[in-house]
Amino acid sequence: MSHILHRQTSHSYPLAASGRGVIIRDSRGKEYFDASSGAAVSCVGHSHPDVLAAMRAQLEELAYAHTSFFSTQVAEQLADELVAHAPIGIGHVFFVSGGSEAIEAALKLARQYFVERGEDGRRYVIARRQSYHGITLGALAVGGRERARAPFAPLLIEAQHVSPAYEYRGRRADETPQDYSERLAQEFESKMQELGGGNVIAFVAETVVGATLGAVPAVAGYFKRVRDICDRHGVLLILDEVMCGMGRTGTLHACEQEGISPDLIAVAKGLGGGYAPIGALLMQDRIFDAIAAGSGAFQHSHTYMGHPLACAAALAVQQVMRRDGLLGNVRAQGAYLSRRLNERFGNHPFVGDVRGRGLFQGIELVADRDSKQPFDPKFKLHARVKREAMARGLLVYPMGGTVDGTAGDHVLLAPPFIVDAAAVDAIAERLGDAIDAATAE
Ligand SMILES: Cc1ncc(COP(=O)(O)O)c(C=O)c1O
Repeated sequence: MSHILHRQTSHSYPLAASGRGVIIRDSRGKEYFDASSGAAVSCVGHSHPDVLAAMRAQLEELAYAHTSFFSTQVAEQLADELVAHAPIGIGHVFFVSGGSEAIEAALKLARQYFVERGEDGRRYVIARRQSYHGITLGALAVGGRERARAPFAPLLIEAQHVSPAYEYRGRRADETPQDYSERLAQEFESKMQELGGGNVIAFVAETVVGATLGAVPAVAGYFKRVRDICDRHGVLLILDEVMCGMGRTGTLHACEQEGISPDLIAVAKGLGGGYAPIGALLMQDRIFDAIAAGSGAFQHSHTYMGHPLACAAALAVQQVMRRDGLLGNVRAQGAYLSRRLNERFGNHPFVGDVRGRGLFQGIELVADRDSKQPFDPKFKLHARVKREAMARGLLVYPMGGTVDGTAGDHVLLAPPFIVDAAAVDAIAERLGDAIDAATAE
C-alpha cells in the first residue's frame, strides 16, 4: 500500500521509471507516448543530455544559496535570457518554483505597485470564468473553476469574474467574431465601471485557456480591447502564460500573437521543461521602478526562489530551444497536428470543435454536434478517454466541466516541441481509437 496521499485515493498509479525524448516507460516496461507533456510541461523532451549536463555542472559547483545573502551567476544569466526575449517594456524577473507561486507573486506585486504609488484604495481583481490560475488560495480565488473554489470559498479573497472568450459556445449565431469580441469587451468595461476603475488592481487572464477549456485562444482583437480598457482605468494586465507560454503556441510568449504587451506575465511549466520546479514573473520596468523608488523591497519571498539547480535547468532548456530552432518546429508540427486532428475528427459524431495554437491543441467532445449537447457528466467521458488512451500507450490531458464547470469534456494535447510528423500521425490515430472506444462503452 502506498503511503502517499495521491490525487485519487482509490486509484492505483503505475510507477514511471524512465523517460527518453517523447516516451515515458513504467516499471513494468510499458511505453507511453507523452502527447500532453504531462500537463504541458516537457518541451525539449525527457532526459535531454545537454540539460542533464548543465544541471550536473551546476550541482558540482553550488546546489543552493539563500537569496537574502546572494544572487548567483546562473540566476542572473537566466534573467538576462528571459528579458532579452520578452515583450517590449519587460525589464525584470522574479523567480519562483511553479505556476501557482508565479500567480501569487503577480497578485501581490500588482497590489504593492499601487500601494507604493499611494493608490491604496485599489483592491479588486477581475478574472474570467472557466479559467485556471493555480491551486494556492490567491490563485484559486482568481481562478474561475467554481467546483474547485466552492469548498474553500470562506478562505478566498474576493475576486470578480467575467465571461471567458470561448467562441465555440459563447459566440451567438447572429454575431461575427468581431461582434462577439466587442460584446466581451463591453462586459469587461461594465464590470470595471460597476467596481469603479480606480478601485481595480488588475485583470488576470490566460492568453490561451489551457486546462479548463482545452486550448482556447481568444477571438481576434479581444486582447487589444482588454489592454485598452485596462490602460484607460490605470489597471494592470496580468497574463497567465504558465501553460500556454514559453513557446508552446509557436511564439515564445503567446501574447506576441495578440500584438499586446502585458504588465506582468506568469510563466512556469515550459520554462524548466520538467527538469526542475521553476516559474517566473516577468514585469514591466515601471512596476520595478515603483518598488525601487518606493519601499525598495517586494514584500514577498520563498526559500527556494531562484534555486541554482532550477535556474541551470531552465537556462539549458531555453538555450536548447533556441539552438535547435524548436519554435519553428512547434509552428510546423502544430499546423500539421491541427490538420491531422481535423482530418480524424472533423466529421466525428462526438467531436464538436478542434482548436488551439502551435503544439497546444484541444478537441471538445459532445453527445450531439448540431445542438452541442455535452455528454452526461455522470458518464465521465474525459476519464474514460484518458484510460483508453493510456491503455494504448498514449498520454493525453482530458478534463471535464468544459461548458460550465460541471458538464462538458475536452482533451488537451501538448506534445514536446521535438515531435516529428510520424509522431503527430500516431497521436491522431491512437487518440481516435481511444475516443471511439470510450464513446462505444
Ligand atoms: C494557466 C495555469 N496557471 C497556473 C497553473 C498552476 O501551476 P502549478 O501547478 O505549477 O502551481 C497552471 C497549472 O496547470 C496553469 O495551467
